[in-house]
Amino acid sequence: MTFQDLIPVIYLITAVTFILGLKGLSGPTTAVGGNRIAAAGMIVAVAATFATKEYGSYGSGGLALTIGGMAVGAVMGVAGGRLVKMTAMPQMVAIFNGCGGGAAALVSILEYTHEAQSGAPLAWGAVLSSVLGLMIGGVSFSGSAIAYAKLQGVISARAYRYPGQRLITGVVFVAMILLAAWLVLGAAGLVAHARLLVLVALAVAALLAGLALVLPIGGADMPVVISLLNAFTGLAVAMAGFVLSNQLLIVAGTLVGASGTILTRLMSKAMNRSIANVLFAGFGAGAGAAVGAREGDTRTQRAISAEDAAILLGYAQSVIIVPGYGLAVAQAQHAVRELADMLEAKGASVRYAIHPVAGRMPGHMNVLLAEANVPYEKLYDMDQINEDFKNTDVALVIGANDVTNPAARADKSSPIYGMPILNVDQARNVIVIKRSMRSGFAGIENELYLDPKTGMLFGDAKKAVEQVIAELKKAG
Ligand code: TAP
Repeated sequence: MTFQDLIPVIYLITAVTFILGLKGLSGPTTAVGGNRIAAAGMIVAVAATFATKEYGSYGSGGLALTIGGMAVGAVMGVAGGRLVKMTAMPQMVAIFNGCGGGAAALVSILEYTHEAQSGAPLAWGAVLSSVLGLMIGGVSFSGSAIAYAKLQGVISARAYRYPGQRLITGVVFVAMILLAAWLVLGAAGLVAHARLLVLVALAVAALLAGLALVLPIGGADMPVVISLLNAFTGLAVAMAGFVLSNQLLIVAGTLVGASGTILTRLMSKAMNRSIANVLFAGFGAGAGAAVGAREGDTRTQRAISAEDAAILLGYAQSVIIVPGYGLAVAQAQHAVRELADMLEAKGASVRYAIHPVAGRMPGHMNVLLAEANVPYEKLYDMDQINEDFKNTDVALVIGANDVTNPAARADKSSPIYGMPILNVDQARNVIVIKRSMRSGFAGIENELYLDPKTGMLFGDAKKAVEQVIAELKKAG
């Protein structure tokens, strides 16, 4: 038995490490271990792929190109992992995901032209895999690039809509599918140059399809779109695996495709939206707009000071902290933990209510609070804690907005109507920490702020919590 015979076995072992890694990533306490297992598997997989010496089939420069590509990727990966802030994680995932889709599309083009140049008749299965890889990878590449540009503020996050937009999107997709069908079913009858032209046209159509798909989607839905494009990239990588006859790529691509699909469904469900609604409704176009009370509504918000908040919290027996995106922006997790410790030392029970789409990515709040060593058993999912708000002295909302908005329950005209929310308004007292009356990601007003039992502590979450801590210390 030679080393080459062992490579499929090594691939199988690394595939198992990816599955174990994913399993670990499903819980905050096991996530770091899961990540390490998958990373170790990836190192072994790369080493085994080198041992196949496949790069030799791309001429004398194959090895240098492979090493050069890996070096660029490694530098980008390490820099991205170290420098990008937690709040910018969705756009980093988008750009990396786009690179994966683009790479899968390039592999498909390369293998297709490689086969075509060999003069041998093109195998139907290989052509189908190449064409699917190019199509899905191309859509994922350009779609992810737009998602990145919207989230990073390179272009406006609004939903770009124009007359006849759905028709044009439909035409681009139909053209892409027809070109793909032509290559798969009729390529044998084409001369080499014509075949190459159709291939280029298919690549252009796929890139346009990605743009047409993502441009009309508003910024608020970008995390769901990124997760969907992630699933596409997984499929494109699996196709590249078929093209290259590489079992590991097939398994890894399928895992990414499946997990991306599951995540997309979970996120849409938590927002009570269908995937079709996310893709075609143009929701969330006006994120972050200043909002006022409705016409005829004479209620106003009640601003409170850090001292008022400290007095209320100092007497509370039960407190539920509701973290949201603003807590992540302010990096207030350590201050929040300190505040919770102080309240507990005074005899209060302190728990955290975690909404499934609080923040900007799945598990955002869990990761932040874990960073400040908040004990995991104090974090409660929405369904576990929602009934308890009515028996709670103070609900302390820190940088959360949409996930506490009662309009989701009652106002049929609200864009977030039907989204399950945290029952913050049922607590005996509510303290909301945020900087202004501006809206959250969905761009809508929040009636919670006009409720007489809500006190608004305006300010940056970290500074405001630190001021409350200082007041509590003063009071002893
Ligand atoms: P948001 O509704 O976006 O509200 C965050 C609030 O934080 C804002 O109203 C903002 O008000 C405040 N804020 C920002 N910076 C702050 C700072 N430095 N200090 C204090 N407050 C600050 O957040 P949420 O309640 O977490 O809801 C998440 C939203 O994202 C939902 O609409 C959800 O559907 C959407 N979304 C989430 C996901 C995932 S997976 N998490 C995926 C897709 C969509 P000020 O400007 O007044 O401070």
